[in-house]
Amino acid sequence: MSSKAWGGRFQKSAEAWVDEFGASIGFDQQLVTEDLEGSIAHVTMLGKCGILQADEVDAILKGLHTLQEKAENQELEFKVEHEDIHLNLEKMLIDLIGPVGGKLHTGRSRNDQVATDMHLFLKKRVTEVIALIKKLQQAIVEQAEAHIDTIAPGYTHLQRAQPISFAHHLMTYFWMLERDQQRFTESMKRIDVSPLGAGALAGTTFPIDRELSAELMGFSAVYQNSIDAVSDRDFIVEFLSNSSLLMAHLSRFAEEIIIWSTDEFKFIELDDAFSTGSSIMPQKKNPDMAELIRGKAGRTYGNLMGLLTVLKGIPLAYNKDMQEDKEGMFDTLHTVVGSLKIFEGMVRTMVVNEEVLHKAVHNDFSNATELADYLATKGMPFREAHEVTGKLVFTCIQKGIYLLDLPLEEMQKESTLLEADVYDVLAPVAAVKRRHSLGGTGFEQVTKQIQHAKTLL
Ligand code: ARG
Repeated sequence: MSSKAWGGRFQKSAEAWVDEFGASIGFDQQLVTEDLEGSIAHVTMLGKCGILQADEVDAILKGLHTLQEKAENQELEFKVEHEDIHLNLEKMLIDLIGPVGGKLHTGRSRNDQVATDMHLFLKKRVTEVIALIKKLQQAIVEQAEAHIDTIAPGYTHLQRAQPISFAHHLMTYFWMLERDQQRFTESMKRIDVSPLGAGALAGTTFPIDRELSAELMGFSAVYQNSIDAVSDRDFIVEFLSNSSLLMAHLSRFAEEIIIWSTDEFKFIELDDAFSTGSSIMPQKKNPDMAELIRGKAGRTYGNLMGLLTVLKGIPLAYNKDMQEDKEGMFDTLHTVVGSLKIFEGMVRTMVVNEEVLHKAVHNDFSNATELADYLATKGMPFREAHEVTGKLVFTCIQKGIYLLDLPLEEMQKESTLLEADVYDVLAPVAAVKRRHSLGGTGFEQVTKQIQHAKTLL
């Protein structure tokens, strides 16, 4: 008898290097816990449905529990010759309890088995990812709460635009992460579905109870079409897509943290614990962790593109191409979990240089809109007010001063609507405070926003 679980039909064995090319055990051993969980549910169901005898079920369950223990203690020795996690565990079971172990695979196929493992695996991991997103959101809220009154320059085109509350800027990432978190949560209803019992593709002749095995594994639903159950990998694509968007958001935040940490900006200082030095330049403190996260967004997009391309055009039902769904998923998961943990620590410990921000916002023209709004409030059409303000900005640039330094007589040369109270509205703090529109940067709005955000955590 061939050493292969499927060897009966074969006259000769493949050479080891060919086996190695086809094997997935190098990476799918990460599914060991889920594969055993699935098998326990399957054999329990086989017993309940009278397909296996109680003593057979007991023997198999005992063997599976032993394998669980060994797995926890890292005592299992996986072999490439047994191809993948499913066949490795089956072989171990038979070695452990004898030929009765061969009854475990009654009424199932590796095709529904592997899909089940992936669903079980993602269900747990997505729950972890959601919890980590929330922790990062919490850290953002804490920094934001401490900086509601910290006025900072707001940018468009990376040029100073309008003064804002620094908290308002930070909270932007809270809301992006909130949507990321929602996307992962919503994807759960498509992950939380059992493919087990679909067999190779067509279902099985054994009187199985798919709902029972689903319930034993804690799934809320079962796939309604056996071919779909073994062919679907869209729940993984969705995970990779949600992760890519999350990493896009993190990479934007990372980029800002990198810019803010430069000598040119100095808006923040990262904690030493999240920075690195240079092997040659003693003065350096590099934001390596933020740079890495910015860079790692790339690999998550690659994994998404990779799986979409694998799936494109493959006929129903299972094809070995689908074994390529795993490494990208493991890699993305590892990337996302690591990035979220680092980010949380980085945000929690960063120090905001309030003085630098204060100085920055008092040495620019980001209050120009205030001047235009002032004139518009006094009845001047906004277009005209824009023109007048532009001219005053130009005058200031020529004189090397800012709008707050421009004497009233100079201002009135452009418009007599400008009166002494214009200096009040030009103060950056006033510019922020007066933006009470819903969701605006006004202090009251930002405070409300943070209160609302906290109810979501
Ligand atoms: N290792 C395979 C995978 O990851 C398991 C399913 C194999 N099924 C098969 N019919 N060859 O996709």
